[in-house]
Amino acid sequence: MKIIGVSCSPRKGKTTRASLERCMSAVTSGYPEIQTEIIDLAGLDIRGCVACGHCMKELKCSQEDDFNDLIPILKDPALGGLILATPVYLGTISSQCKAFLDRTVMFRRNGFLFRDVVGGALAVGGFRNGGQEASVLQIQSAMLVHDMILVGDGKPGAHFGGTVWSGHPEGMDKDEPGLATISSLGQRVAQVALKVHG
Ligand SMILES: Cc1cc2nc3c(=O)[nH]c(=O)nc-3n(C[C@H](O)[C@H](O)[C@H](O)COP(=O)(O)O)c2cc1C
Repeated sequence: MKIIGVSCSPRKGKTTRASLERCMSAVTSGYPEIQTEIIDLAGLDIRGCVACGHCMKELKCSQEDDFNDLIPILKDPALGGLILATPVYLGTISSQCKAFLDRTVMFRRNGFLFRDVVGGALAVGGFRNGGQEASVLQIQSAMLVHDMILVGDGKPGAHFGGTVWSGHPEGMDKDEPGLATISSLGQRVAQVALKVHG
C-alpha cells in the first residue's frame, strides 16, 4: 500500500515541502510496510482545467503539460492515502494546489479511482492564524467530491489537519504545536489507510 504526498508550493524545498516531509516521515514511522512518494509541484507546468470534457471519455487530458506524467502515479491501485500540502495564499490554497485538484477530476470521471483513499491536508502560513484551517477545509472539500475518506490530525488534538506557522519569530522548527499537528496527521492517515487497505 502506498501513500502519496503532494507539495503545492511554487517554491522548491521551502516550508511546505519541509512540512510535508515531516508528515511523510510520520506515515512510515511504525508502519514500514507503507511505501511513500512525494510529488512536488514546484517547477512543474500544471495548468488549470479548461473544461474541454476530454477526460469524460478516457483517463487523459487534452492539455499537454506535466500533469500527464502524474497520471500513472496517481492511478496506481496500491494508492491507499493522499496527503496534500499547500502554502496559504490570501487565506486559501495556492493556485498550484487548485489547478492540481481540478485536474484530478479525471480520476472521478473514470471510475472514482480515489474512492476510499484516505485523505489528509496540511497548510503552512506566514501568520499563526493566517488561513491554515480554511485552506485545509478547501482541500478536504475536493477530497469529499472524490468520495475519499477524510481524516484530521487525530489524537490528542483531533482537529482539521496540519496547520503550520512558517513565520514563527524563531523559525518554523519552533512552532511545536503546529509541527505536532503534521506528525499526528501522518500517523492518522497511515493508521486509517492500513485499516481500510492494509
Ligand atoms: C501571494 C501570497 C499570499 C500569502 N497569503 C498569506 C495568507 O493569507 N496567510 C498567511 O498566513 N500567509 C500568507 N502568505 C505566506 C505564505 O503562506 C508562507 O510564507 C508560506 O510558508 C509559504 O510556503 P513556501 O515556503 O512553501 O513557499 C502568502 C504568501 C504569498 C506569496
